[in-house]
Amino acid sequence: MKSAIHIFDNPSQMAEALSSALIAKAEAAINKYNVFNIALSGGNTPGLFYSHLGKIYSDRPFWKNTHIFWGDERCVPSDDPDSNYHMVSELLIKNITIPESNIHRIRGEEKPHTEAKRYSREISQFLPKTAGKQPVFDWILLGLGEDGHTASIFPGTSILENEAKNCVVTAHPVTAQKRITLTLPVINSARKVTFLVSGRTKAALVTSIIKREKGSLRLPAARVCSARGKLDWYMDTEAAAQLKSISS
Ligand code: 6PG
Repeated sequence: MKSAIHIFDNPSQMAEALSSALIAKAEAAINKYNVFNIALSGGNTPGLFYSHLGKIYSDRPFWKNTHIFWGDERCVPSDDPDSNYHMVSELLIKNITIPESNIHRIRGEEKPHTEAKRYSREISQFLPKTAGKQPVFDWILLGLGEDGHTASIFPGTSILENEAKNCVVTAHPVTAQKRITLTLPVINSARKVTFLVSGRTKAALVTSIIKREKGSLRLPAARVCSARGKLDWYMDTEAAAQLKSISS
């Protein structure tokens, strides 16, 4: 599976490039399907991207046909600083003109298993499906954890390719914090998947995953393959430091 690698000298350049790519994708999807369904990532890395998008492109018409979902959520209240919804709401949603009904948050305050079922139903009801009945997002944005996790699929969990559900409950391996996450089959059914990675601490991991080095396939992030399209990597020069052949 081909990866498109985009490397940037500084975070603002990366935020602008990813914003332009997202807008082009949104406008194309809305032209074709009248809707653009995106699942956003949590963590720290995408913060600048969300605030850039919210500041520079706040009143673009595509927002009214864009539906925002999350790839994963921490099981905390929506106003908790740890909440991925809280982060996206503060940096992006509060600054853009988007109907409230287009925001499909994971309700971290609910009982995890009950909410995983509810969110799974919401995804199934709302998204088109592949022939294999997997819901299809137009775009899923992912981060990369230092242990090779992505969304909240952590190494060693059984949630790999054969998971039949749209989303499941997991627990952070260090903090034991309960999470709700999309499963790999849903992630891999997306029309486009983008990893957004920054910092030197991820350089070895990025190289190992992109070059599919021995042993990398035990890492959930290495199992992301976007069966329907191309996998994009947006990263800064630090995260790309160990990549020899660079194409962008
Ligand atoms: C989360 C994310 C998670 C994150 C990675 C990278 O809820 O935390 O979905 O997968 O993207 O842990 O996090 P950083 O961007 O903070 O390095």
